[in-house]
Amino acid sequence: MLKKLTFFSVVAMVVGCAEVQKVEVPKDKEQKIAKVGEESSMKLLKTLKGELMNAMQKGGPDEAVEVCSQKAMALTSQIEKETGYSIKRTTFKYRNPANTPDKYEAEALKYFEENMKQGKMPSYYIQALNENGKVVYRYYKPLKVEGVCLTCHGDPNLMDKNLVQKIKAIYPNDKAVGYREGDFRGVVRVTIPADKI
Ligand code: HEC
Repeated sequence: MLKKLTFFSVVAMVVGCAEVQKVEVPKDKEQKIAKVGEESSMKLLKTLKGELMNAMQKGGPDEAVEVCSQKAMALTSQIEKETGYSIKRTTFKYRNPANTPDKYEAEALKYFEENMKQGKMPSYYIQALNENGKVVYRYYKPLKVEGVCLTCHGDPNLMDKNLVQKIKAIYPNDKAVGYREGDFRGVVRVTIPADKI
């Protein structure tokens, strides 16, 4: 018994620095979290979409793919600096491995997937996490696939052959194809420290 306790306390000490627990979202804070989360996620989406459409018009999908692969992460960092919140795009079927979901993001993705199955699409999902005694709120905004997205995320058999090759060369383990218009694509996650609300 004593041995067991010692073992567990050592484990607790080792993993202690990354202790995260789900806690309850205070009902009276929900509206404010949603407002801040919506503003920050929209800022990112507008910026990314603007760059994407610009590049598509200037150089077609070939150029746009390079803009996406080289600029999306840098633009995200820029919006993080502007808003002061940590922001990430994440999905189960990702192209960029940097966008792989963590445990709590996966839970949010499942929430939207389950709702989609029932023909519903909530406009957001909120979690509260206690990270080593510090509470943060995570706001998740769902993304849907639009017509223009299919150029690079659609059925590879219907996509431009050169483009398919180009994407494969940059992302050999690409999972972000085979989508159809209206599909759930993933989320934008905004992390807001509780003391900001
Ligand atoms: C010109 C090609 C192109 C188009 C069009 C395009 N994407 Fe992407 N997308 C990419 C590339 C390349 C990446 C990987 C680089 C990155 O953004 O991190 C990506 C990544 C993503 C990600 C991050 C998750 C992941 O899979 O890594 C999301 C979410 C996303 N795209 C959604 C969309 C949506 C929604 C649209 C339509 C509004 C769209 N994309 C249109 C090329 C494209």
